[in-house]
Amino acid sequence: MKTEKVRLKNSPYNIVVGSGIIRLLGKELKKTGIAGDAYIISNRRIYLRFAGQIRESLKSAGFETGHSLVPDAETSKSFKTAQTLIGNISSFDKKRRLFIIALGGGVIGDLAGFVASIYKRGIPYIQVPTTLLAQVDSSIGGKTGVDLSQGKNLLGAFYQPRLVFSEINFLKSLPLRQVRSGLAEIIKYGAIKDPRLFGYLEKHYSEILALKQSALEFVVWRCSGIKARIVEQDEKEKKGIRTILNFGHTLGHAIEAAGAYGKYNHGEAIALGMLLAADISKELNILTPQKHARLETLIGASGLPTRIKNIPLAGIVKAQFYDKKFSGKKNKFVLLQDIGKTRIMENVPLEMIRKVTRSRIT
Ligand SMILES: NC(=O)c1ccc[n+]([C@@H]2O[C@H](COP(=O)([O-])OP(=O)(O)OC[C@H]3O[C@@H](n4cnc5c(N)ncnc54)[C@H](O)[C@@H]3O)[C@@H](O)[C@H]2O)c1
Repeated sequence: MKTEKVRLKNSPYNIVVGSGIIRLLGKELKKTGIAGDAYIISNRRIYLRFAGQIRESLKSAGFETGHSLVPDAETSKSFKTAQTLIGNISSFDKKRRLFIIALGGGVIGDLAGFVASIYKRGIPYIQVPTTLLAQVDSSIGGKTGVDLSQGKNLLGAFYQPRLVFSEINFLKSLPLRQVRSGLAEIIKYGAIKDPRLFGYLEKHYSEILALKQSALEFVVWRCSGIKARIVEQDEKEKKGIRTILNFGHTLGHAIEAAGAYGKYNHGEAIALGMLLAADISKELNILTPQKHARLETLIGASGLPTRIKNIPLAGIVKAQFYDKKFSGKKNKFVLLQDIGKTRIMENVPLEMIRKVTRSRIT
């Protein structure tokens, strides 16, 4: 078991990563000083698979538990579901102190974190991420929120968890499509910040797809560290440092929304968004064709999409305007200068965006 610290002045916390560590969850929780009953938010599939072990560990550390389950879909990341959860929590809450456990992927993590941030002006919560994407990315850094019909994550808050507990064994039951989705975010970390990680992925991506324990432990650990360092420097994305984590997200979110959140999952859309950002970087002559090709080759070899299927250009361009990164009339792109090096650029000409997007649509 390894522990990475997120050293935030007002809300520091640990990220714990390891295989076969779930029995230690109760103990780790005690160390945080968290008190009261644990309220687990999850979906049925994940709850049935993992909650038994979690409740056992919590019980042995003296925590009582309650739970609410939400449908297994991105559409659960809605204000309506949050409201239902708050109703359930307040019925459970009769004078007891409680904290929330987000048990699931990014959907559950974002939703449960959001509920924790607004219930009684904020109660503690912890993240127990069960997807690769959630372990390497969404469980860390305190971005919580729900989607609106106009776009993703439009309602939310920065609200840090008290602990992130990444049990690698939980990933064993992940469908391949989900593993790939997490791999997209891992590729992102390599592309924006860590050429050595990128090189490792070029050699070992198939071990990650095959859920090899040592490869998973390495990437979850490495990415947790990268994200922790970025969040420490720019917790609320005010200094332009955290912004680099949005590489691939400006057009990725637009593709996700234009496909009505059903055609491409988050990681797949981000893979396409990264390629489009790299296409723009190449058009602007800030990224060499060779480096562009390395990114495209790795994404393609990982089985992630490199072409946009059955989504019209107009839908993607329209969805882009609802993105949070599109403020006023200005767009903002994280572009690539090199493997491991980014450049932020505002006002990328719409014509260029249309051109690169059009050429990836089939
Ligand atoms: N907060 C952030 O910083 C941040 C960062 C990236 C993504 N996100 C958000 O995360 C969400 C995507 O998260 P995701 O990719 O984890 O999707 P998800 O939460 O929908 O999970 C994907 C699927 O995997 C299933 N699943 C989860 N754990 C499993 C397991 N161990 N075994 C078998 N099946 C399992 C889920 O039930 C679901 O069907 C999006 O809403 C995205 O906006 C947030």
